Amino acid sequence: MLNVEKLSKTFKTEGGEVHAVRDVTFHAADGEVVAIIGASGSGKSTLLSLLGLLDAPDAGSIEMNGTQLANLDSGGRTKYRAREVGFVFQAFNLIPNLSAKENIKLALEFSNWPKNDRDARADAMLAMVGLDANKASRRPNKLSGGEQQRVAIARAFAAQPQLILADEPTGSLDKATGQKIVQLLREAANTQKTTVLVVTHDEKIANQADRRLEIEDGALTEIA
Ligand SMILES: Nc1ncnc2c1ncn2[C@@H]1O[C@H](COP(=O)(O)OP(=O)(O)O)[C@@H](O)[C@H]1O
Ligand SMILES: [Mg+2]
Repeated sequence: MLNVEKLSKTFKTEGGEVHAVRDVTFHAADGEVVAIIGASGSGKSTLLSLLGLLDAPDAGSIEMNGTQLANLDSGGRTKYRAREVGFVFQAFNLIPNLSAKENIKLALEFSNWPKNDRDARADAMLAMVGLDANKASRRPNKLSGGEQQRVAIARAFAAQPQLILADEPTGSLDKATGQKIVQLLREAANTQKTTVLVVTHDEKIANQADRRLEIEDGALTEIA
């Protein structure tokens, strides 16, 4: 269970203060896929950065399955980022000189996954996203965009995180492929009991989620 309470983040710029995230409160259950929809500049990526501990809020709290993230020391924060959160990006962000499988194994290494189980775990993740051994052995540039995003999803789920943060994961894909990718995120969320937040500005993609939240000028509201 993810509990976010009154989270705020303001950037001080030369042009003045930008209230990127304002008093955001929401909850998400294990296994739930929540879409966050909003226009460009509405605060979507900033909110994900706060939830992934890539940036610190000015106010408010984030509680993940009973742990107040603000109470973590620097070692705890590093562990949280490596083990409890998985990221999926619009640009896939795979390491270009590693094969699909090696990309997943590297994430398992970072998360300190038991060494003698990394190979089997990577194979299981590749199977989960529907990639065969031939595709698994290829470097990212020998895979289609949809296939690269499947690898990124396999990598994000590999260390069994509690939370997946997907920032416009379908933004570089055609509509049909994008819908398949969100379907895959739903299935993985369900089987792994992982909370998935999917940021999008595409209504159709948002409609595939269990719930939809709208962010406007940093403020979040639930869409009925
Ligand atoms: N590091 C930063 N410094 C200053 N302003 C920022 C920074 N990051 C984001 N912003 C501003 O915060 C607002 C929200 O940005 P962002 O979260 O990237 O929106 P979105 O992902 O919805 O497009 C925008 O006005 C953006 O210009
Ligand atoms: Mg963004």
